[in-house]
Amino acid sequence: MLDNTSQTNQVDEAFLQAFTHIFAQEAKTLSVSPGRVNVIGEHTDYNDGFVLPAALQFTTQILCSPRADNIINACSVQYPGDNESFSIDGDIKPGEFAWGNYLRGVVVELKKAGHTLCGMDVLITSNVPQGSGLSSSAALEVAFGGLLNHCCNLGLNEQQIALIGQAAENNFIDCQCGIMDQLISAKAQNNHAILIDCKDLSTRAVHIPENLALMVINSNYPRKLADSEYNQRREACELAASTMGVNKLREANMDMLLDVKSKLDDTTFRRAKHIISENERVLAAADALANNKLNELYSIMAEAHLSLKDDFEITVPATNGLVDICNTALDGRGVARQTGGGFGGAIVCLCDLNDVDTVVKAVNDQYEAKFSLKADIYVCEASQGLRVLDL
Ligand code: GLA
Repeated sequence: MLDNTSQTNQVDEAFLQAFTHIFAQEAKTLSVSPGRVNVIGEHTDYNDGFVLPAALQFTTQILCSPRADNIINACSVQYPGDNESFSIDGDIKPGEFAWGNYLRGVVVELKKAGHTLCGMDVLITSNVPQGSGLSSSAALEVAFGGLLNHCCNLGLNEQQIALIGQAAENNFIDCQCGIMDQLISAKAQNNHAILIDCKDLSTRAVHIPENLALMVINSNYPRKLADSEYNQRREACELAASTMGVNKLREANMDMLLDVKSKLDDTTFRRAKHIISENERVLAAADALANNKLNELYSIMAEAHLSLKDDFEITVPATNGLVDICNTALDGRGVARQTGGGFGGAIVCLCDLNDVDTVVKAVNDQYEAKFSLKADIYVCEASQGLRVLDL
């Protein structure tokens, strides 16, 4: 995790100067953690299932210097007027700034786990697109958890830092997310997607071939009901699991689900059908990617999108439309599907590097005309996870 590569050494000079300007001293440590795109495996993480995400080149970066007292002062380049400040002693409550609550949540969870923390001045910047389902909040939680781990000598590994981030999100922010976003942000590897078994958190890196473009296209559809819908999906999965007498849907299979069909309402049945079939698809997709069988990968991902659209119902017309535009333009030479939690957000599109321009043109020509929204298109590099560096 402690890293001295040239990549991390290229700290933005203006960012360093901003720190010195705000806190009247030089920054001592830098922590960097990425956003993510999920190749396949949607909503499976909180069912103890499988996911196959990769980290983006977009990161949250935090500079800090230690303080002699127990205060955390935090500023953000993106929110210039917000001066977040809280003591690590005593009872920490949600504060005034939404972004600051992620820091508070991480501190609360570290304290709950029995760690002794230290005060610090921190400055945050991020180029992870926000509100687009690319895990800007996980990047912040992991970057800050990694920073505290390093500066306060907590001795945590990447997995433990990820779990603290997830706990902050579940308990302090009240979003009942799974572990995927924090774990990939902490443990990602350059040029690889990571197959995660969310039951035991074991990981297997799967190389992404050089000629395969990993595109992320943000629909910019406003994600209004995302949190409440997300929590409802989770409840439906729990209901289906308990009806089958298992703890999590990971332990169920299609035969078991069919056996209890008459006991479930149609919606709950379809939610569980998505999760059970998606787990199988993730394993097959990881093998197809590892063996460079791209056509096989494309058809598995196309099925996954339909399952999200028809059974799990987390897509919206704008993301379905984007998927159709890309798939039609690629004509079988690649695939697109909804990625992340859904209800808007982004799609992921895999295709040969030579076809990137075709996809960009199709989206630019058709998406805004059909949906009155402008898409943001990113050609991504699967990047490294958490890095912490003394300056
Ligand atoms: C969000 C959550 C993740 C995961 C995805 C859906 O990103 O934070 O834990 O459930 O949605 O796959």
